[in-house]
Amino acid sequence: MNDLTFSLGQNPSRVVFSKIETIFHSTKAQALYVIDEFVAENYKNQLEPILAKPGNGFFVLPSGESSKDWENIRKILESAFELGLARDSQIIGIGGGVVTDAASFAASLYLRGIDLVLVPTTLLAMVDAAFGGKTGVNFGGFKNMVGTFYPAREVRVSTHFLTTLPEKEFRSGLAEVIKSALIDDSNLYDLLANRKEDIFLRKSEILDEIVFRSLGVKGRIVEADLTEQGIRAHLNLGHTFAHALETVTGFGTWSHGEAVAWGIGRALELGVQLGTTSRSYTDEVIRLLKDYNFTLSISVDSDELILAMGRDKKKQEGRLRFVLQSGPSATFIQEVPEAEVRKVL
Ligand SMILES: NC(=O)c1ccc[n+]([C@@H]2O[C@H](COP(=O)([O-])OP(=O)(O)OC[C@H]3O[C@@H](n4cnc5c(N)ncnc54)[C@H](O)[C@@H]3O)[C@@H](O)[C@H]2O)c1
Repeated sequence: MNDLTFSLGQNPSRVVFSKIETIFHSTKAQALYVIDEFVAENYKNQLEPILAKPGNGFFVLPSGESSKDWENIRKILESAFELGLARDSQIIGIGGGVVTDAASFAASLYLRGIDLVLVPTTLLAMVDAAFGGKTGVNFGGFKNMVGTFYPAREVRVSTHFLTTLPEKEFRSGLAEVIKSALIDDSNLYDLLANRKEDIFLRKSEILDEIVFRSLGVKGRIVEADLTEQGIRAHLNLGHTFAHALETVTGFGTWSHGEAVAWGIGRALELGVQLGTTSRSYTDEVIRLLKDYNFTLSISVDSDELILAMGRDKKKQEGRLRFVLQSGPSATFIQEVPEAEVRKVL
């Protein structure tokens, strides 16, 4: 697979499809490795010789969303300081989105920003979290409340990691892949529609292709709008509904991807309701989502969902805004009256 380079802000951000044998190597004299607990345990053999190198240090982040907090950022910064990381050193984050968000945030703060390499090990982190510059932690009970924009200089991808990923986590990432296809890649859509068996079997050649294509979609958008002043919001297709579902059911009941898949279905139905989206396109996408075993009908109280969206509403200056599609690769943002939203819940 070819490498990808995007210009994010003032700096290039490179995605390199790496061999597993060399993926953890540092090119600097000193590096602090921030590693997901599962990965630290299961890739011990590959990691140990590198971590033993004089000058290198490591911090293992316990698995789970609750690790993405201020206290762990403090501990990562403390490790960097005790190790004596200097401006020419590096932080390497290895793990899912929890690790890549936290390691990036710490890297953006330490010495006002040091070199950052990310090695995503979940599908969601490969196609979404590790690339695009959003960093952060949860704060005050809210997700991603505190953070910075700090793109990694290099993101190293190996779909080999996905062989150990639990099914729920794998499908969570697939929802974002489907979203990328709908936003701007009809070839990716065709692959998803025609190569489902190979994708479920996690054949490396097809996984490389769908990760490469998803990153292409995100890269083109983020290159145009790093700090989400406009078009980057298109990447939130399905997410207003998804966040409301996650809030109402409690984080963790539905994986983020499962909630996003449901949300994409709702966003397209809302488009049909408003007369902007065709019934046939909506039905086709819903069929694809069902083929990937996503649940598209739920029994959650619509008042509670609307209330949860209302909390988002406050953040968006009193308006309920949705990312909608009139068709494939035709995404737009529209304010929608609450009464119309209710009809699709
Ligand atoms: N910065 C962004 O643009 C962005 C975008 C999307 C999501 N995110 C963030 O990403 C986070 C979710 O990321 P995630 O879904 O990767 O979750 P995660 O990091 O919690 O990883 C999920 C689980 O998989 C385990 N794991 C990691 N690699 C594995 C492997 N190769 N095999 C088996 N198990 C493995 C982890 O230990 C964890 O238990 C959220 O905090 C979300 O806010 C950030």
